[in-house]
Amino acid sequence: MHFIRLCNINFKYNYTPFLFIILPGSSTFMDLESISQAFKTTINQKVVEHYFIQNIKGTKVGICNYGARITHFIILDSEYQAIDIVLGFNDIESYVNANEHYHGATVGPFANRIAYSKFKLGEKEFELNSNDGLNTLHSSTAGFHNKVWKVINISTNEICLQIAHKNLSGGFPGNIVCSITFTLTDDDELVMKYHAKSNQNTVINLTNHAYFNLNGEGNSDVLAHVVKINANSFVEINQKSIPTGKLKKVDLTPFDFRAFKSIGNDIEVDDEQLKNGNGYDHSFELNETNNQLNFAAAAIGDKSKIKLEVYTTEPAMQFYTGNFLNGKDKGKSSNFYGRRTAFCFETQHHPDSPNQPQFPSTFLAKGQEFISTSIYKVSII
Ligand code: GLA
Repeated sequence: MHFIRLCNINFKYNYTPFLFIILPGSSTFMDLESISQAFKTTINQKVVEHYFIQNIKGTKVGICNYGARITHFIILDSEYQAIDIVLGFNDIESYVNANEHYHGATVGPFANRIAYSKFKLGEKEFELNSNDGLNTLHSSTAGFHNKVWKVINISTNEICLQIAHKNLSGGFPGNIVCSITFTLTDDDELVMKYHAKSNQNTVINLTNHAYFNLNGEGNSDVLAHVVKINANSFVEINQKSIPTGKLKKVDLTPFDFRAFKSIGNDIEVDDEQLKNGNGYDHSFELNETNNQLNFAAAAIGDKSKIKLEVYTTEPAMQFYTGNFLNGKDKGKSSNFYGRRTAFCFETQHHPDSPNQPQFPSTFLAKGQEFISTSIYKVSII
């Protein structure tokens, strides 16, 4: 049986009531404070911290400052059972040693791929660390997912974290100060506000890499989840997942998610783009690219009837169906995370934008402010 019991015992910082929870798949009582305790360590002399933010409905989101990660997203399902819809772990060691590096992480300074690990700003060429063959993925090990962020502010339903990127770390120019604020509203929206500023011209592309299984993390594959994406076109990729530079219309392709369709419906269709991505692993160009918060995508868990909606000010969203999850990571409910047991909705600019002048620009001029907002909204239908 899964249930949660709230006791009004306040602890540290006086902002989160003591919560006992039996998480799906777990046979033992776990209280959220003990989970947060299991994150206490130092990495590169920086203190790792973990918190739960919560709202009036009893939704809890776990955030760790190692990678500014979403570690837990626990909601009450239609039977008032606690269900955790993101993949992840209950302790810091598992994140550090995980086979998949990006669980729940805030990715930057440049999310997604950059071809041949280089780009030019004006006449100057910047060489990046490669970590995906000859290419750079998610800024390599120099990326924000791999850093301990500073906790700037924490309250019952909000946490703000900040990271300082050193000029040329991983090859990216500029001393960049970046922050993210996670706010959990009483409407079950997790609002992520990103901010960045650099002392030199640079490029920026930030996203969140939460892996969702809306039937509950640790469940089987997500192929029966239905998905809708507000996109008429997507970025064509080569066999190394690098954009060819062309946008392809979704019409009459497996990439048409303009009406709800199950992830598994077309994923095995004989299609060059699906082969190149090993499944869906593509940047969709959203239909509204006006810098306002627009509807990007939605998904519904077939068993749970939990719905996730995504809104963003970003012009694109990478839809990734966990094709490289390989069953080596043992998650929160002691199940191994196998291929396609989760999907990601990564709001962002297109991959390789610094080398693709026709894509919306990721250039951030010295001293200018970068701001971006994305929302994960959950509900039960
Ligand atoms: C992104 C990429 C995928 C994969 C994952 C991380 O979503 O597009 O190809 O590398 O990150 O495993």
